[in-house]
Amino acid sequence: MSESTDILSTSTVRNAYKLWAPVYDQTFGIMVRAGRIRAVKHINNSKAGRVLEVGVGTGLSLPHYRTDLEVTGIDLSPEMLEKAQDRMQNKNLTHVDDLLVMDASDLDFPDNSFDTVVAMFVMTVVPDPVAVMRELQRVCAPGGEVLLVNHFSADEGVRGWVEQKMASFKSTGLWNPEFPVDRVMVCDELELRESYDLHPFGLFKLLSFTKLEDEMARNDKQRLTTRATTQYAPSTAQAGL
Ligand SMILES: C[S@@+](CC[C@H](N)C(=O)[O-])C[C@H]1O[C@@H](n2cnc3c(N)ncnc32)[C@H](O)[C@@H]1O
Repeated sequence: MSESTDILSTSTVRNAYKLWAPVYDQTFGIMVRAGRIRAVKHINNSKAGRVLEVGVGTGLSLPHYRTDLEVTGIDLSPEMLEKAQDRMQNKNLTHVDDLLVMDASDLDFPDNSFDTVVAMFVMTVVPDPVAVMRELQRVCAPGGEVLLVNHFSADEGVRGWVEQKMASFKSTGLWNPEFPVDRVMVCDELELRESYDLHPFGLFKLLSFTKLEDEMARNDKQRLTTRATTQYAPSTAQAGL
């Protein structure tokens, strides 16, 4: 197993969201509404057919998807997912194919199953973000998109100040102030295409990755990364070593 975040295990996450499920929509769910709506709009504007939403929670996003998409949602928490199932039935969301209890770090889908894979406000609360990123990459079809909406830590400015104020929320299972963006830059086949700040305060970012189509494109990416690292790394003389 790869690196895990410090406070989380599968059972702590399950226990935390069992408690959050009855009040999630009226609390954190509302606070992050703007980012969620923005991400779904991004998906609705793209070519996507089959969409996997990882950590779908209570399904707040589900009514906003284009109705010709085929959406599957998974979540670790049965209590959160039960809310999503109620929403699907009450609102007759026929574009939702399936809602399943599943661990994002061990997805029960074949390789290349989805055109778009999205995880909103999830990466900071999963026990093993590296394993989850590898699974998102695996189940996304070549040429498809992996979309993350997440908080990534900053030290300065208004964001840094807001983050310090929110540090006490770490124990809630909703928020981790110390989550640098390189924790999700771990997949050879995923190329970052877009990154922008979301409301409120730019506390959250939307990252859009494309899954590279073939071996040659992956080799190109590797070559460019190696060249950039060699060109821009300070020489030992410059670094005063
Ligand atoms: C902050 S909530 C976000 C819910 C939803 N995406 C939204 O926009 O409101 C995080 C969700 O991730 C789920 N989660 C955490 N770890 C997970 C894992 N390893 N696999 C699947 N879901 C997970 C939690 O159960 C919870 O429903």
